[in-house]
Amino acid sequence: MVSEGADSVLGMSRIVYDTATSLDGFIADPQHSLTWLFDAAGGAEPDPDLLPTDVGVMVEGSTTYEWVLAFSELLEHPERWREYYGDKPTFVFTRRTLPVPDGADVRFIAGSVSDALPRIREAAGGRDIWVVGGGDLAGQFFDADALDEIAVSIAPVTLGAGAPLLPRRIDAHRLSLRSARMAGPFARLAYRVSSAGDASH
Ligand SMILES: NC(=O)c1ccc[n+]([C@@H]2O[C@H](COP(=O)([O-])OP(=O)(O)OC[C@H]3O[C@@H](n4cnc5c(N)ncnc54)[C@H](OP(=O)(O)O)[C@@H]3O)[C@@H](O)[C@H]2O)c1
Repeated sequence: MVSEGADSVLGMSRIVYDTATSLDGFIADPQHSLTWLFDAAGGAEPDPDLLPTDVGVMVEGSTTYEWVLAFSELLEHPERWREYYGDKPTFVFTRRTLPVPDGADVRFIAGSVSDALPRIREAAGGRDIWVVGGGDLAGQFFDADALDEIAVSIAPVTLGAGAPLLPRRIDAHRLSLRSARMAGPFARLAYRVSSAGDASH
């Protein structure tokens, strides 16, 4: 299945930043907690209807990775990694040495998104590349002119402060709304991001 708003090109991975956000544009509260999100969703189990489809690899920053490890106790229960992510590779941007659950395909990477892209694309094998977060890392993909889609599931909550959704200025001519729908308590929006060199704007 091709995700909402997709302009798929055969054999070419799309790079998709897909996240849940508060109404005022934060993806975590100042304590890096997601309890507000689980409260809104009625539980911590992600609704498959709010997740990207056809994902070949995941990409995330180290705060997100460490949160996932701790929240699901993946170092203590490494078998859960495969249960949740199968054998999909996860690229983690970090300048530090971080632990990996036994058997998980986690690949650490540091430096510019442009330099990392060939490795990430090769691992994706033509399937989508899911930029899980955080917002600045998604911004680094945008800066590298390598972001194809932004999909947000907006929770009915404001946080006032926290980890930003996407701390970049992206003007309207770069974003086209491809879909908007209700998903339980969430508003789900998907935008296509046009390339900096796209003459169509
Ligand atoms: N609402 C949602 O659905 C959702 C989705 C994703 C994340 N989240 C949450 O949002 C928060 C995001 O945290 P965050 O804003 O700190 O972002 P993050 O992207 O998770 O982590 C940022 C860290 O990644 C490393 N990093 C980023 N770019 C790098 C690069 N080019 N090269 C090397 N390392 C790089 C740096 O850490 P080091 O080099 O020091 O390791 C940086 O401090 C977390 O609490 C996460 O759990 C929520």
